[in-house]
Amino acid sequence: MSIKKSSSIKTIGVLTTGGDASGMNAAIRAVVRTAIFHGLKVYGINRGYRGLIDGEIAEMGATSVSGIINRGGTILKTIRCPEFRDKKNQKKAVENLLCYGIDALVIIGGNGSLAGGGALYYNWKVPVVNIPASIDNDLAYTDYTVGFDTAVNTALSAIDKIRDTATSHDRVFVVEVMGRDNGLIALEVALGSGAEAVLIPEIKPDIGKICALLDKGHKRGKHSSIIIVAEGAMSGQDVAKEIRKRTKGLEVRVSVLGYMQRGGSPTAFSRALAARLGEAAVELLLKAKYGKMVGVVGNKVIATDIKKVLKTKKTIDISDYQLVGVLSS
Ligand code: F6P
Repeated sequence: MSIKKSSSIKTIGVLTTGGDASGMNAAIRAVVRTAIFHGLKVYGINRGYRGLIDGEIAEMGATSVSGIINRGGTILKTIRCPEFRDKKNQKKAVENLLCYGIDALVIIGGNGSLAGGGALYYNWKVPVVNIPASIDNDLAYTDYTVGFDTAVNTALSAIDKIRDTATSHDRVFVVEVMGRDNGLIALEVALGSGAEAVLIPEIKPDIGKICALLDKGHKRGKHSSIIIVAEGAMSGQDVAKEIRKRTKGLEVRVSVLGYMQRGGSPTAFSRALAARLGEAAVELLLKAKYGKMVGVVGNKVIATDIKKVLKTKKTIDISDYQLVGVLSS
């Protein structure tokens, strides 16, 4: 790992913000260890942008990140901080960076975190690099965010268990998954669990069609059906109500998977992604390439201007949606 240093950065800060995602700890570890490898001093900022405003800052060494690669959550804590949109708070944050001699920041989090990184870079010229970490996978210019794969696998292991009880009772289960206003988790989970149908915010739900499919399946002796609903599409309870109303005597139950999707030990994929992006983030700072988000596209680590990422909405792959239909017919 020999890189040509072209920046004068000697000290960096690292923080996690927004909703936690499994693999954030692995990302913190990668940032801290890469920075130390290159002779930098590292500060950890607790509780995201709130901690940056309040000065909750402490030095980190190689051992501060020992034994965390397999742990969910974030040792640096996290918080949603809408008040960081206020320039007065941004100014306080910048003053704290100056006070601790922090030359640059690595920010780990989802789209709110990216907006904060953009504010620090474009309004105050703070050298920043963002690492995408969110269960939602809703950032463009990266195929995956840290934590998405873990959330999907957590949902799948829960749904495999739900399938057992659904089959024993000949029941339909509506399983609500997270994802805020997109259906990326729902689609991946639907494909992985062999769901009969999926409802996502990107496509207007056709409950009539789903009910016809359920009735048909029941008639030909199907013992269980799983319908995946993205939280941004409809509530699981509302979907269940509609199915009960429109089908002939099907027994319907609902499971809302909720926050369990955020926690737990990260998968191999989430850990390795965090390691690659953590290293890339520090190396970008050393090369004086600031205001970027690192990401992985087609198995290659890339860097994209924060502005460009913020302007682009990640879209679903419609063929995945169609495939759920094909495989359930
Ligand atoms: O962004 C991650 C996420 O878990 C979304 O899927 C969900 O809608 C939201 O956070 C929940 O937010 P909070 O942690 O603020 O309740």
